[in-house]
Amino acid sequence: MIKIALKNLSEEIVKTDALIIPLFEGDYSGTCRRLDSLIGNYIKTAFDSGEFIGKHNQATILHINGIKASRILLLGLGKKEDLTAEKIRQCGGKAACILKGIGAKDSALSTSSFNALNRHLNVEQSAAFYFIEGVMLASYRFDRYRKNSDASSAKNNFLKGLTILNSKADIPVDYLKSTSWAVAFAKDLVNTPSNDMTPTILAQTARSLASKKIRAKILERKDADREGMGAYLAVAKGSDEPPKFIVLEYQEGKGAPVVLVGKSITFDSGGLSLKPADGMEKMKYDMAGGAAVLGVMKAVVELGLKLNLIAILPATENLPGGSATRPGDIVSTVSGKTVEIANTDAEGRLVLIDAIGYAKKYFKPRAIIDIATLTGACSVALGNEAMAMMGNDDELMERLKKSAAETYERVWQMPLYEEYKDYLKSDTADIKNIGGRNGSLVTAAYFIKEFVGDTPWVHLDIAGTAFSEKDRAYTSKGATGIGVRLLIHFLKGLY
Ligand code: BES
Ligand code: MN
Ligand code: ZN
Repeated sequence: MIKIALKNLSEEIVKTDALIIPLFEGDYSGTCRRLDSLIGNYIKTAFDSGEFIGKHNQATILHINGIKASRILLLGLGKKEDLTAEKIRQCGGKAACILKGIGAKDSALSTSSFNALNRHLNVEQSAAFYFIEGVMLASYRFDRYRKNSDASSAKNNFLKGLTILNSKADIPVDYLKSTSWAVAFAKDLVNTPSNDMTPTILAQTARSLASKKIRAKILERKDADREGMGAYLAVAKGSDEPPKFIVLEYQEGKGAPVVLVGKSITFDSGGLSLKPADGMEKMKYDMAGGAAVLGVMKAVVELGLKLNLIAILPATENLPGGSATRPGDIVSTVSGKTVEIANTDAEGRLVLIDAIGYAKKYFKPRAIIDIATLTGACSVALGNEAMAMMGNDDELMERLKKSAAETYERVWQMPLYEEYKDYLKSDTADIKNIGGRNGSLVTAAYFIKEFVGDTPWVHLDIAGTAFSEKDRAYTSKGATGIGVRLLIHFLKGLY
């Protein structure tokens, strides 16, 4: 991971592969003009030719003489009045991608455009913070399975350091480090294919986080059976991989804990309600909720947040083996309610309700947040831009909305109207695990709500955001680590 250093050095004297100069649209002034006079006015030439005028995400590299840096990377911030923290984050991502492309090993950031800006943005951190965040997030790569490629030989060399020049702002670099490492950690887990990310391996990974501050407890199939987790075990029945019900406890604060529950289906074939072959390979990412929760735990320990936090990952595969659950089967749950499993592909909600039942029984939480790749309908509704949020507690949801605005891990609230209860009526059991085609994003959440009772609870559906089919400004194709930064920010603000 890239090293960040804050130094009181000027642009003229820093020795670096690439000096990054962010500039507003049309803003050829100040530091930029001063530097330009030392390097033969080639920045002016770039402006005059129209090749670089400072539009957002515009970038140009100049090889230079006259100062210590060997290159300048001009980076457009766009119009000052249009600038947002997210646009700065994207510029950081853009810079990282360009520097990766040219094989730069180290870089330095001029903050002179930023220093004028810090109050204007109306966010919690300084402009440089978001830029560094973009760089750090964009430095991620997943090359575990590329043994001899260029990618893996280049990896040890790529962008080792970023020096922040003359920043007048206070930048919590440790926070950035912990959060972006946690994001990378979650992405690795999600990108790893299901044969190497079984419930057993996920449990080992969770256990590796155990320390003086974190207690890990893994419930085996027989333990889950003793706890009455009929819904969770119904999902596990069709696979030879043993299920692992993972619990991590971090008790460094006072009062009732917050419980994070992450859906952890290490592969979702749909079970006997089998999914179509097309796109099924993507269902390795059905544990992205669990991965996010582990990432959050890791960061919370590193940051030493003073709070009580429990992570629960009900991990299993959903496969159609010979002993798989049949559509129409009825199971019992920790809560005591019975569920008709009308569709074995609606398995996420089944593992979540037993995890929530367990959480309520043993931890009496002050709040439960579940995060899950729960429904295809989530992406139908919101595309890949926001998670769907539903819950029974407005205050919690307001807090999450604030954290979403700050981190740009966006949430969009959907309703849980009482009328949805009817959609889930079963002819044979207390409730059915599907509510029909219409409203399947909200009926999935409503199903969970029926098991939550009066504990404050929020559900985050990340089916549309946990995996990206395209490269984005600071998130490459593949796992996105969504939810990690959101939840860390939320937890940090809670106590
Ligand atoms: N894991 C899927 C949801 C999903 C779909 C996530 C696509 C990411 C991308 C979930 O278990 C599922 O299969 N949901 C079904 C529910 C339906 C059977 C009621 C769905 O959304 O189609
Ligand atoms: Mn499914
Ligand atoms: Zn699933």
